[in-house]
Amino acid sequence: MQFKDKSVVVTGASTGIGRAAAIAFAKAGASVTIGDVDVRAKDTATAIQADGGQAQFVSCDVTDAAQTTGLVEAALKTFGRLDAAFNNAGILPAPVPFHEVETEALNQIIEVDLKGVFHCMQAQIRHFLTSGGGAIVNTASVAGVIADPYMSAYVAAKHAVVGLSRAAAVEYAQQGIRVNAIAPGLINTPMTSQWLADPEFTAAMYAHNVIGRAGQPEEIAGTVLHLCSDAASFTNGSVVVVDGGQTAH
Ligand SMILES: NC(=O)c1ccc[n+]([C@@H]2O[C@H](COP(=O)([O-])OP(=O)(O)OC[C@H]3O[C@@H](n4cnc5c(N)ncnc54)[C@H](O)[C@@H]3O)[C@@H](O)[C@H]2O)c1
Repeated sequence: MQFKDKSVVVTGASTGIGRAAAIAFAKAGASVTIGDVDVRAKDTATAIQADGGQAQFVSCDVTDAAQTTGLVEAALKTFGRLDAAFNNAGILPAPVPFHEVETEALNQIIEVDLKGVFHCMQAQIRHFLTSGGGAIVNTASVAGVIADPYMSAYVAAKHAVVGLSRAAAVEYAQQGIRVNAIAPGLINTPMTSQWLADPEFTAAMYAHNVIGRAGQPEEIAGTVLHLCSDAASFTNGSVVVVDGGQTAH
């Protein structure tokens, strides 16, 4: 019960990594406020409640700054405090050669994957500055530390998430606010299910993945909880790669 009496916000928790993290936080004792555009995230809150945990769903589009402020306010209103946040909501574009990326597609990725994290962080940091501190973890990707071909817009957005995390980490460390990023490799979620169903893709991917398989969302959740916990009190501005050895290869 590492998070007993703590309150956390998780974005993008209808499925995949966010759902696994929200459930893991609740199992560790946290009250969880889930923000998502997809109403299926309500099921994540219901599953937590059915298991005896505390959770609420708040409809939240992270591209809208006012809604991310509302998410923080909802956590404070219902659970009386906010200790940590996992800014995880994201989208993945279809692979396209760099010279064919349309400006509109680039804008969409930047809106959700970068500005979404930016809005969430601003709302959370404004609160943490008044509450005495807190921990933030942002979901980047291995595409935030290396480049995957045909994913340039995503690579740019995820590199920027790493940059935002580091920038905030150095600005607010003295105020008790820690900010870290995680860089998952290939994880088995609805985002990647189409790719994982393609034997040609998986053969090529697993050849560069030392473990030789995709990760499960729960294998990311453990790292997120650690980074949000007091056990990570000296971990700040870090990018924690969780990829089965893909980028070590
Ligand atoms: N699956 C992978 O292999 C992988 C690898 C590296 C990084 N990631 C990142 O992990 C994060 C979670 O992805 P996942 O694989 O669990 O996918 P997923 O599709 O299961 O989850 C994404 C979640 O984000 C939500 N979301 C999308 N746009 C939103 C918006 N505007 N406002 C609020 N919520 C929004 C979705 O509704 C969904 O709940 C993403 O940031 C993704 O880029 C995934």
